[in-house]
Parts: sequence; C-alpha cells; structure tokens
Amino acid sequence: MYDVQNIRADFPILSQQVNGKPLVYLDNGASAQKPNVVIDAINTAYAAEYANVHRGLHTLSTIATEKYEGVRAKIARFLNVPSEDSIILNSGTTEGINMVSYGWAAPRMQAGDEIILSIMEHHANIVPWHFLRERLGVVIKWVDVDSNGDLDSDAVLAAITPKTKLIAVTHMSNVLGTVIDVKAICACAKAKGVPVLIDGSQSAVHMPVDVTDIGADFYAITGHKLYGPSGSGAIYVAPERMAEMRPFLGGGDMIRDVTRNAVTYNDAPMKFEAGTPGIVQTIGLGVALDYMMDVGMDAIAAHEADLCAYARGRLDGLNWLNVQGQSATKGAIFSFTIDGAAHAHDISTVLDKKGVAVRAGTHCAMPLMEHMGVGATCRASFAMYNTREEVDVLIDALELCHDLFA
Ligand code: ALA
Repeated sequence: MYDVQNIRADFPILSQQVNGKPLVYLDNGASAQKPNVVIDAINTAYAAEYANVHRGLHTLSTIATEKYEGVRAKIARFLNVPSEDSIILNSGTTEGINMVSYGWAAPRMQAGDEIILSIMEHHANIVPWHFLRERLGVVIKWVDVDSNGDLDSDAVLAAITPKTKLIAVTHMSNVLGTVIDVKAICACAKAKGVPVLIDGSQSAVHMPVDVTDIGADFYAITGHKLYGPSGSGAIYVAPERMAEMRPFLGGGDMIRDVTRNAVTYNDAPMKFEAGTPGIVQTIGLGVALDYMMDVGMDAIAAHEADLCAYARGRLDGLNWLNVQGQSATKGAIFSFTIDGAAHAHDISTVLDKKGVAVRAGTHCAMPLMEHMGVGATCRASFAMYNTREEVDVLIDALELCHDLFA
C-alpha cells in the first residue's frame, strides 16, 4: 500500500516552511529532494568510508571502490539491462549525451550527415548536436510536435534518409510531460540501421524503464532528478555502440598503459570514465535507486498517475489558465501561462510567497517554446511525495495570481 505520508516523512526538507507557509515543492523536473537514506549515505561515505576509488589497496579505498562499483549493477537493474558493463557512470545526462556526441557520433559523421531531433528536446540533447553542425557540417532535422504536444513516431521515422546517422529524442518532455513511444521509434529505426539515443532524464523518475524492451542504443539518466545527489548519473550504451565509441575524456583510470609514445585503454566502461569520479555522489545515487525500487516503480507510477489526473482536472477547470500540452500520455509535468497576466517569473514569485516552488522561464527548451509561440511559462512538476492537497494549494495560489494580474 502506497503511503505518501510515510514517504514524505523520509524527506526532511518537505516539513519546512517557506515564507511562513508549508513548502509545496513542485520543481521536481528541475531537481528532486533527497530522502534521509541518501543524506545519511553521503554523510557516512565522507565521515567513515572515504578514499579514492580503483587506486588504493588500503582498506578505505577498497570499501569506497566496492560501494562505488556496486552502483553500476543497481543502475543496470533499475534500467533492466543484462550487464553492468553497459553502464557508464558520469555526472548526469548532459555529460552522457556530450560523450556520445564527441566519442561516438563525431568520428563517424561528416558534412551532410543527419541527426533527427524532436522539437521538444532539452538543450542537453540539442547543443551537443549543434557542436557537430558547427564543426562538421552535420544537419539537424527537427520533427515538430502537434498542438497536443504529441510526437508522431511515424513522423520521426519518415524523417530518416540514407544520410541519417542518429535519432536523439527525449522519453518524456521536461516542459509538456508528454511520454514518447520510444519503443516504436527504436524498433523501426533499428530496422533501418539507425541508432537511437534516448534522454531519460525525466522519464526514469516517474515510471519503470525497461531499456532492453525499448531497444535503445543509448539511454541517459541523471541522478539529481532521481532523488540522488547532483553530479551523479549514467548512460547505458549498447555493446555494439560501446565497441564503436572512442574515449571522450583522457586521464587516469581510463588507461591500461601509458608510455612516452603510446597509450592503451582500459576495457569499457572504465575506458569512458577518466579521472577521479563523483565517488560520493554515485554512492548516493545507488542508495536513491534502492529507495525508489523498494517503494516500487509501478507504485510510484500509479501514485503519480492519480496525482496527474487530479491536477489535470483542477487546472483544466481554470478557464484563464493555458496548460501547454494535452497529450493522452502526459505525465505529471504542467507548464502554463495565465491569460493577460504578468510574466511567468511574476507568477512564480507570487506562488513562492504561498510556499509553492515552481520553475519559470524557458526550461532549457527554447526551440519548443518558439514552436509553441510562448516566451516563458511556469512549470509545476510532481514527484513521488506530492499530494492532492498540494495540488489544491497550487490552485489557490494560481487563483490569487489571476486576481492580482489578470
Ligand atoms: N532539466 C531541468 C529542468 O527541466 C533543469 O528544469
């Protein structure tokens, strides 16, 4: 039985007041709060078990290495992939996608080759491809979403030409909440020999993700949205793609042998993990994933589906509120503007006075904002610990904004 109050009790920050009001934290799309088990694990890692990993033979280094390396298997289980050797640990999705851009895509692409992106990508899944456009003359082909915020997987596949080298799409829009049929895209792309990279930054937080079933070549996740520390994350890379990929960062740990005139590399995935990593951050991520898996990803998804339906009903009842994206597959992320009201930043400031934390702006998704014809929106994004009562507080605060500004 999902007991949201028990879950809330695990997150100490949620019991505080902000501006004299109980905190209603609805900025989870930007970063989620951390449960006590993660905070405690970070403290223990620094207070009692800290040393560098992979380097020392002494006791503390062995403990730190075992804890750090143990996270790889947890991520493999979280994403349902058969081997932890397919998991490259990193600082988050941005690093993961840049690594694919530099290490896999750049060496195999030339002027005129094409990368297909959806218009609702986060800048982390746009700018690394712009680098290739600038440096190599690669062509970015955009696939738009419709007025509901849906991405037609057939339109993505129709954009494939003999020059297409990669499809890079989000699994869940950080602005609209739309969940994409990535499995359909992967199946057809594979049949045409085109690899697919999926940005799982938002999706992995809200639903069970089965990368084996999806059939992705690359699947990136980020720890700070998964109730873990910032500076942690991972990317799944399919074995065939891993074999094709060149190291992106050079340094310690990723080598087997270095001489004056030559270098040989470590085996994957270590080959792609140069330098001292985010040791404690990664250990904290492992604990966060354990926490999520203990609660149960199906249970989290069911709770959020209920919350999403309730929030949707209440927001739709405000006829002066424009919610962007009405997909049938919309998850609990709501971006909106208020008719005739002040800028999203002003709305966000009023909400903050009521204790409600939302994000306002362009959400690192400027091409989507341009496509939607809006300058900026407010975004309320929900997590496993949010409640219907918090939706009601949001609605009351929005009504105040409407009274003040409209
Ligand atoms: N990617 C984060 C967001 O959507 C920062 O807010």
